[in-house]
Amino acid sequence: MVPEFVHSRPTMDAPELIRKKRDGLELTKAEVFNFVDRFTRGEMPEYQASALLMAIFLRGMNSRETADLTEAMLRSGRVLDFSALPQAKVDKHSTGGVGDKTSLVIAPAAAAAGVLVPMISGRGLGHTGGTLDKLEAIPGFSPRLSLQDFHRVLGKCGLAFGAATEEFAPADRKIYALRDVTATVESIPLITASIMSKKLAEGIDGLVLDVKTGTGAFMRKIESARALAASLVSTGAAHGKRVHALITNMAQPLGNAVGNALEVIESVETLKGRGPRDLTELCRELTAHMLLLGKAANSLDDARAKYDSAIASGRAFEKFSSVVAEQGGNARALEDYSLLPQARHLDAVVAPKDGFISGLEARTMGVASMLLGAGRERSDASIDPAVGLVFEKKVGETVQAGERVCAVYSNDQSRLPQGLDMIRAAITISPDPVSPAPLVLERVLDARVA
Ligand code: URA
Repeated sequence: MVPEFVHSRPTMDAPELIRKKRDGLELTKAEVFNFVDRFTRGEMPEYQASALLMAIFLRGMNSRETADLTEAMLRSGRVLDFSALPQAKVDKHSTGGVGDKTSLVIAPAAAAAGVLVPMISGRGLGHTGGTLDKLEAIPGFSPRLSLQDFHRVLGKCGLAFGAATEEFAPADRKIYALRDVTATVESIPLITASIMSKKLAEGIDGLVLDVKTGTGAFMRKIESARALAASLVSTGAAHGKRVHALITNMAQPLGNAVGNALEVIESVETLKGRGPRDLTELCRELTAHMLLLGKAANSLDDARAKYDSAIASGRAFEKFSSVVAEQGGNARALEDYSLLPQARHLDAVVAPKDGFISGLEARTMGVASMLLGAGRERSDASIDPAVGLVFEKKVGETVQAGERVCAVYSNDQSRLPQGLDMIRAAITISPDPVSPAPLVLERVLDARVA
């Protein structure tokens, strides 16, 4: 798995590596591999790895070093190979947001339009949700597939939803855990290598990245989102992969629903052509880029038309239904929502005055939903699939005093009052008309497939 030159060289002096990066010098490929390999095997102590990570955080890495770091992390584990399946393999990754259920729509839509989607996802943490948690709200559904089963489902349905496990890029798990406790998470090269090593392990030909920006996003400022998008696209190209990044707005929750079963319902409605406008628009754009990268369309307009046809014909919904059934889920729950987990209590947050909704601050909405049990504060916490929020008004819409802005579904009511207070505080109303900011703010494209 690890290139020969890593082992054929004597163990490098860790203080020398740290010193080199501390002084702003470039690390060689052998040095980068040596660090990743030794740390992953437990041969480099955490105090030295932490110092090196902090030096990278402060001094950065150029695009060659970032690509090498990605490769070293990728090669620390298993890389899937679907070359026996003839169609292009394309995935989508989002940097995380509130109400972001696009994966449940675009994976079946892209599969229905002719590419294969081997999607390996994670769980939600903090204010952001995770694709696996949403899918697991469907009774019986399991993302825990053996590699053989993942291959079989992908071949049969055109898509498969798997769980990120120890097998893929194990170096990322170890390095991320250390970054988390050493204040070195917010580094463009480290984030790039972390995301791309896991995604390239899926054996894909192309990848669409949804880099979110705004209060509910990891990259709150557009400048940081732009830098991350450029780094992700160039790292993909360095690995011979076609990558497009869309920088999208996460100032308010995406769609209307936040919470796992509620988001499944909204995804199914979107697959049936009845979804909220913003979610539908983003799913259409992301799928269109996937089709372009997978050479299943010859222009973005052609790709958008293929998305529209996959939805209007019902083929995208059928794909979702078939993959759910194939992975053990009760596909009848996608037709009869009463078979999904149900919350016992329904409360409402209403508008305190007449006007136009000017803000539904995304991060606070995500935290409120987490407090109700829809998300987890710590990675080992359990979640309640039934609970969450449904917005009945979005930014730009008019409201009257007393009209419902947000429906709040709960079971355990111990943190409900705190959640309701947070939601109230995160809604702003203006006396003047408000136009919502565009959803797709910028596109960073691989020039070879623009
Ligand atoms: N998401 C990841 O997968 N890795 C990071 O480093 C940050 C966000």
